[in-house]
Amino acid sequence: MGRIPQNVIENIVEKSDIIDVVSEFVPLKKSGRNYIGICPFHNDKGPSLSVSQDKQLFHCFGCGASGNVIGFIMRIKNLEYLDAIAYLADRAGILLNFSDDDRAHNVENKIKDEIFRANIEAARFFFNNLKKSSKAIEYLKGRNVDSSTIFKFGIGYSLDSYTSLYNELKNKGFSDEILLKAGLIKKGLKGCYDRFRNRIMFPVIDIKGRIIGFGGRVLDDSKPKYLNSPETPVFKKGTNLYGLNIVAKQPSIKNIIIVEGYMDCITLHQYKIDNAVASLGTSLTAEQAKLLRRYAQDIFICYDADTAGQAATLRGLQILESANCNVKIIEIPKGKDPDEFIKNYGVEEFKNVIKNAIPVLEYRIQKAKEGKNLKDTKQKSLFINEVAYILSEVNNPIDVNIYAAKVFDETGVEVQSILQQIKVLKDQKSNNENSKKNYKNNIVNVNIYNFEPAYKKAERLILNLCIKDIELFKFISEKISPSEFVTNEYKISAEYIFDKCSRGEKINSNELLLKFENNDDINNISSIFIEYEFNEDLYKLADDYIKTIKKYNIENKINELTINIKKYEEANDIEKSAALSQELIKLRKQLNLL
Ligand code: UTP
Ligand code: MN
Repeated sequence: MGRIPQNVIENIVEKSDIIDVVSEFVPLKKSGRNYIGICPFHNDKGPSLSVSQDKQLFHCFGCGASGNVIGFIMRIKNLEYLDAIAYLADRAGILLNFSDDDRAHNVENKIKDEIFRANIEAARFFFNNLKKSSKAIEYLKGRNVDSSTIFKFGIGYSLDSYTSLYNELKNKGFSDEILLKAGLIKKGLKGCYDRFRNRIMFPVIDIKGRIIGFGGRVLDDSKPKYLNSPETPVFKKGTNLYGLNIVAKQPSIKNIIIVEGYMDCITLHQYKIDNAVASLGTSLTAEQAKLLRRYAQDIFICYDADTAGQAATLRGLQILESANCNVKIIEIPKGKDPDEFIKNYGVEEFKNVIKNAIPVLEYRIQKAKEGKNLKDTKQKSLFINEVAYILSEVNNPIDVNIYAAKVFDETGVEVQSILQQIKVLKDQKSNNENSKKNYKNNIVNVNIYNFEPAYKKAERLILNLCIKDIELFKFISEKISPSEFVTNEYKISAEYIFDKCSRGEKINSNELLLKFENNDDINNISSIFIEYEFNEDLYKLADDYIKTIKKYNIENKINELTINIKKYEEANDIEKSAALSQELIKLRKQLNLL
């Protein structure tokens, strides 16, 4: 599908009233200025979903899902941006300029078949190359990959040459067009050349056993470490999991372990942990979660121990839970990833780590605690609130009691009062209409936004305040500029909102949203437009949020400086390190003044 012109998209959105569209999936009831319904994106006892006709936005006060009409369709039909637009166009009877008739369909299938054939030939070529390349064999040996594993995963090697694969496949009769579409070759000024050169090649195979793409790893430290096939007619990111073709063949699958990398997956299989799949460094999608759920309900997430891996774990958790999986988290205690761990400590030790996998609830509570000083009353109370929220979602009273008792051990807050708080939250949830106001006040701070950094929340609410009132905007814009915003989508939103407000023009949420195609961005930006109910003085609040953002920026700079100072010190460059130390002192002063 090609690009759709912006004015066509605007027209489609205009003809897709959000109330009509949402009603086709969820019964809506009018309530005040908005419509409400049961949220389809989480296990809602609500109605927690609120849809605004004026703003053409939806928001769930239970799970935090937000968006415009495109975001709603992307989510509920699990579609990519352009496919969601095509869906809405079709619904509104707007003809898009690409035909979806049988003829086009046949041509498309034929192309796919050709790509699969080219991929098989490529994999065969790579595999044969490997046998002949001593440096590739040495590399794999160095990483303890044995020959049966090479065979099982069809691992190969792309020669250090620009045209070896190209020539091979041309000789076999494939056209340039197909090879380009397959992502195997690229076209330069001087003609076609191989995409993958001098890399260890990992074919990616779908559950039907078809080779849909490749990942190729360098043999040294050069960049990029892994080169993957681009999106092709048969290779779509987020639809497949590496290794699932092998796992799916097991006669009985009790559970599945998700790891991040090719090598992690391969190593686990080599050590007879034959239920591992890899998500390949991208965040898990709902489609992948559904696919996994077809094979097992018990899923273990075992991502890298770095912060990126942890953030990916939290995102993955929610997606897997929405797909009705039971999730546990395997935390790698030492080293970076499962492959490294097994290499250093052995597979038996890794099996122990698996045994110690943490149940979701415990993991969430652990995360809620992270970074909070429980000796500080305010932070402690925040922690208790978050825990109460987490536990209010749990149906089993025994679980609730066990965890409440644990929290008592840590905080000294009586189990009874924790249970009381949980009850309040639960009542508010079932008792929607009357208590919705309070519910909103309590929950917005702690639900999906639970795990987001403080500056991000501050960014969202600052923008919300700007829209609320022009005087507030003036106050805010004197103190902070869009360039100080950290989160990319909020920075762009700030530029838009500051620009509009300073000209006294009306803010149109959908005009802003149409700049974004990623549903997380759409979600975050839509949340700017929610009507939050603030209990405090708005100017004081704005001031606090601005400080939070500024503080984050300064702390970031301080971290950077500290690292650089260390570097210069190690290099004995006293002059530079002293200069930076001066800057550091200045920043610390600024921080104190905030
Ligand atoms: P990692 O950087 O954790 O690599 O990326 P790894 O899997 O541990 O690789 P080794 O052990 O150094 O060989 C995890 C995954 O992210 C994707 C790959 O799928 C990789 O397996 N990735 C990473 C890329 O696609 N491109 C990159 O440049 C890096
Ligand atoms: Mn690794």
